[in-house]
Amino acid sequence: MSSFPAAKRCFLCECLSYDEINEETISLEFSWPGPQPRGGQFFMMKAEFGGVFLGRPISTAGWEAPGILRFIIARRGRGSEELMNLRPGNRAELSGPLGNCWADAGAVIPEGPAALISGGVGVAPLACYAPELGKRSYDFYAGFKNRPYGLENVKPRSLVIATEDGSEGLEGRIPDFFSPKGYSIVFSCGPVPMLKTVAAICEESGVPCYISMERHMACGTGACLGCTVKTRTGNRRCCADGPIFNAVEVVW
Ligand code: FES
Repeated sequence: MSSFPAAKRCFLCECLSYDEINEETISLEFSWPGPQPRGGQFFMMKAEFGGVFLGRPISTAGWEAPGILRFIIARRGRGSEELMNLRPGNRAELSGPLGNCWADAGAVIPEGPAALISGGVGVAPLACYAPELGKRSYDFYAGFKNRPYGLENVKPRSLVIATEDGSEGLEGRIPDFFSPKGYSIVFSCGPVPMLKTVAAICEESGVPCYISMERHMACGTGACLGCTVKTRTGNRRCCADGPIFNAVEVVW
């Protein structure tokens, strides 16, 4: 179970800003009267007047100011498509904050430099967490298809960017430029192949690694058992026991 006792709320929230990052990805800000989320937590979101019954899980990308939430949304299906069509003044139903948070994992190894490794929109929950690291130094490794995004508020000791087309930073996939040597803990979020690679090289080096998993979700609160993650100690609910898991526990 999550050790973070998040208060959960559901509100119809006004979209305050829309920013197109690329054809497949946008950033939205919403007014939010509920509690401040921790980095790694997510919200179930659906557009007002949309055609989908269930919300879509979207990680918090930032708490821009008291009462203003930011999200990065990628086109994945009808629910996200409807969210991408929102503009300032439109509204969406937001339910959250949900799930556990990176800080729970970070508390396991409280000292020493951390590595944050993201792929694509996986940058969102890690960028949201970065300000919570306080005095702990960290390096940020961020991989994208092309133009980088979502890194405005991170202040790492070192920032490594890789793009698949080589248009910015290093050319290639971000795990190719990462070594766990010198880190006390690793946090990662992104596509499954990337997570598997990061988890494997961390396990080989004996460095603790925590990963944020993605699953289709219905309730988002642990009730429907529709978001199973297989672990070495049995099935876990991604929404309520995660989305952040100790990588060595996950059965791929
Ligand atoms: S989405 Fe229902 S239990 Fe996770």
